[in-house]
Amino acid sequence: MVIFSQKPGIIGDMSQGQFISFCTADALARAAQDLKSGALVAFPTETVYGLGADATNAEAVARIYNVKGRPADHPLIVHLADMQDVTDWASDIPDYAIDLARAFWPGPMTLILPRTDLAKDFITGGQATVGLRVPDHTLALALLQEFKKIGGKGLAAPSANRFGQVSPTTASAVQEELGDFFDEKDVILDGGQSSVGLESTIIDCTASAPRILRPGAITIEMIEEVTGLKVEDRDEVIRVSGSLENHYAPSAQILLDGHPRPGDGYIALKSYPTPEGAIRLAAPVDNEDFARQLYSALREADAQEIELVVVVQPEGTDIAIAIRDRLKRASQGR
Ligand code: TXA
Ligand code: MG
Repeated sequence: MVIFSQKPGIIGDMSQGQFISFCTADALARAAQDLKSGALVAFPTETVYGLGADATNAEAVARIYNVKGRPADHPLIVHLADMQDVTDWASDIPDYAIDLARAFWPGPMTLILPRTDLAKDFITGGQATVGLRVPDHTLALALLQEFKKIGGKGLAAPSANRFGQVSPTTASAVQEELGDFFDEKDVILDGGQSSVGLESTIIDCTASAPRILRPGAITIEMIEEVTGLKVEDRDEVIRVSGSLENHYAPSAQILLDGHPRPGDGYIALKSYPTPEGAIRLAAPVDNEDFARQLYSALREADAQEIELVVVVQPEGTDIAIAIRDRLKRASQGR
């Protein structure tokens, strides 16, 4: 069982894995050592929690696939401590990708680049490209630094959920999702609630101009402004598991922009009053707040065994695009 420690530095015991709350420098150094010896470490990022493993260790990475229940040909994002580390993993990096890295890293953006020999098939799913990201979270960066100090090259980390399910934005959501599948040596680091709440923007940087493969907090406008290039439309040729229609789905059925009956769940901006009898799951004040609260609200619907959740989609071309993208997939069901 997990012990949620409220005292800094105390490491709780858990039959499946350990739960580290309020991580100290010692705890992080230990987690980095655990990663080196092949353990999985779930860690917070600003987007969602990741399930980390040494990206050069085939056996550790294979365990990610087991714990997630994810098909083995789906590529993983490699997380780096520093932008300088990109050249370990990627070659032929276009100038616009460097501009993007300078502008948005550390941050909620993943760049798809031609791989070096360090990026093996077990990371890239056999593709000639690799996904790279420097996350913007103090604890994630500290863990990556500790890992680098002992010779680590980067951490492979998909979202820390079972395949097809809603990504976790808190440590306790990770424990609910994956606790049963963890070993004793695996670790969950608690870094509070993810501040963005939706997965990173994925940008394909293998052509003459960037293409968005998954929308996120870094928007088309932001990319065009930094690169001075016209961003191409999403292309389904490159495999992105997040592009499967039935992804990011809770057990509850999601109905977009409908009217809830009594007992149905309801998620909408705060300016929308709760229809009579509906169970209000979130009342975000703006689109960013909507992104931050969405996944925990969907989890709450499942916890309350609500069968149908009506979501009023936010408007706009900011992170609302990514919210509508995830909602569309969630509404396709499992
Ligand atoms: O915000 C995020 O990106 C989070 C945090 C933990 O960093 N990670 C995340 O990972 O969402 P994951 O594995 O759940 O989703 C990554 C997506 C997958 O759909 C995968 O197919 C795609 O990135 N991807 C990874 N490498 C790729 C590549 N070389 N080419 C195309 N797509 C790639
Ligand atoms: Mg995922």
